[in-house]
Formats: sequence, C-alpha cells, structure tokens
Amino acid sequence: MGRVAVTDGMDEKAIEMITEQGHEVIVKHYTEKELLSGILVNFDAVVVRSATKLTREVIEASVNDVHGLKFIGRAGVGVDNIDIDTATKNNIVVCNTPRSSTKSVVEMTIAHLLASCRNITTADRKLRNSVWAKKELVGTELSGKSLGLIGYGRIAQGVGNIAKAFGMDLHAYDPYVPKEIAKKNKCRLHNDVDSIFRMCTHVSIHCNLTEETYHLVNSSRINLMPGVGDDGINCGNHLINCARGGIVDEEAALVALESGQLSSLALDVFEKEPAIDNPLFNHENFHGTPHIGAATKEAQARIGVEMTSLIIDFFAKKENDICEKYKIQK
Ligand code: MLT
Repeated sequence: MGRVAVTDGMDEKAIEMITEQGHEVIVKHYTEKELLSGILVNFDAVVVRSATKLTREVIEASVNDVHGLKFIGRAGVGVDNIDIDTATKNNIVVCNTPRSSTKSVVEMTIAHLLASCRNITTADRKLRNSVWAKKELVGTELSGKSLGLIGYGRIAQGVGNIAKAFGMDLHAYDPYVPKEIAKKNKCRLHNDVDSIFRMCTHVSIHCNLTEETYHLVNSSRINLMPGVGDDGINCGNHLINCARGGIVDEEAALVALESGQLSSLALDVFEKEPAIDNPLFNHENFHGTPHIGAATKEAQARIGVEMTSLIIDFFAKKENDICEKYKIQK
C-alpha cells in the first residue's frame, strides 16, 4: 500500500476512492523549506496543482537510496512547476490530467473575452462606487473581428469554435498542430507569431510556458495589433491569457494599457502567483481573476477521477501501462 501526499488539494471523492483502496493520503500544503528538507521522502506519490513547485532541488531531496517518491501526479494540465528531467533521472513517473479541465478553461476564456469587450467588470466596479456609467461604457461586438489564438490545442480549438459562432474570424499560431485540424475548424494557421498580432484585434494565449514562450507577448508584438476590426470598427486591441503567467510581459502590457494600444487586458494567470499588489490592478481596463480557469466543480471532479485511476493503477504495479497511456500531454 502506498503513501500519497496531496499538497494543493484535490476533490474529496477522489481522496476517498484512493483511501478505500487501502492507500494512506495526507492532504497538506508544505512550504518550500519543508519540501527542500526532504519531507516528501516519506511518501511514494505526490499530487500537486500549480502552487507546489517540484524543482530539481525539491525532487532530489524527495528520494534517497531506500525510500522516496516514485510517482508525481499533476492534477491539471501545466507541468511547468515540475522538473520532469530530474524526475525521470530519479525513476519517478510524472502524469498529468490533460483533458479534464478543457471545457472549464474554454468557458473562462470566453467569459473574459466578453467581459473585457463589454466592460462588464469595469461597469460592476463603477456601480459599486455609485457611478452610473451608461454613456461612458460603450463596448464593441466580437462579431466581425479577428481572434488570434497562440497555441492551438484542445482549449484553443474549443475557444475558437465558440468565437466562430459569435462571428469572429479565426487565426492561430502553433508549430506543433497538424494543418488539417485548423482547416477543419476554418481557422487560418500562420507560420509566425507576428502575423497573428498584425492581423488580430483580439488575441488569446493557449500555449505552455517554456523558455520559448516566456514573454512571447512583448511590447513590439502588442504594438503590431491593428486596433480596427475587419468590419472597420475601431474596437481597440484586446489580450487574454488564461494559460500561464510569464507568457505575457506584464510590464509591457501595462505600458500598452496606459498608452491605449491595448483597450483591455484580461488575465487569469500571472508571472508571480499569488498575485497581490500587482500594478496592473490599478488600471481600469485590466480584468483579472486569480487562476480559476479550471476551478469548477465539474473539472475538479473529472481531475480527481482521472488522477485516482492513475494512482490506483500505479500502485497496482501497472506502471508500464500508465507510462504508455498517460505520457505527459500538452
Ligand atoms: C492547469 O494547468 O491545470 C490549470 O492552470 C489549473 C491549475 O494550475 O490549478
């Protein structure tokens, strides 16, 4: 029977199911200091979300010649908080749950797209301050505008399909996705990131955070955005990131909000999380949420079920099946 540490929370039913199989589950968030001191050596498996950083040092401290981690489960999609190379070198299996939260993040992105273009959060803030801004808060329609998707995986495709129903034209940049998928979805696939910014008044980020994508959205790219929709409406430029903090250069985005080059910036993810006292929060056209794209009852339940079956399979010594079935996926 195994010992499992769940450090960033997990659906209660999932914890019950793992426990019912006879495994011991400890639900507790550990500080960086505790992780570095090797607290995870006492566990066979750890399940994390994004808050626990399993760096090289932490992973090396989590194994010794006799005991230690054999399984890392990422309850979610992004694995940028896990040093996979170090885990692999130490014979630790790493699995994520890549599909469970797709619908929730798609809906969150659409919510941000609508909220920013129709000033919903700004209007709400004004109402709460007794300001009836009926004349001031004129938005623009999504219809007749171009949406650029940076990354064209499952979430971006879902966002694109809904945006298309609103009457948006779709553009995407993703060097890894087959052309046929984009063609089927009536989305124009571009060979370079810049042309997305040049053509689109609305850009939504859906790639992983890697060395290649760090600050991919910078001032020179934001400055390429046209500000005028395909329908000739002066709709301004709108940027959304519900993928990972660090892909948008927040300082550059703030400068663009201040100059008016960006009419709105909607972020669910931040370079430094938890994001407290971020200078963006003082700008009226910034719309923020605290990394809650996957925070729905449905997504968390699906993540729990998927993670539970991975852990149960792992302890049932089906490690090879797991590796075959659940290689880390974007
Ligand atoms: C994910 O990568 O699954 C999401 O960003 C959710 C999270 O990290 O909690």
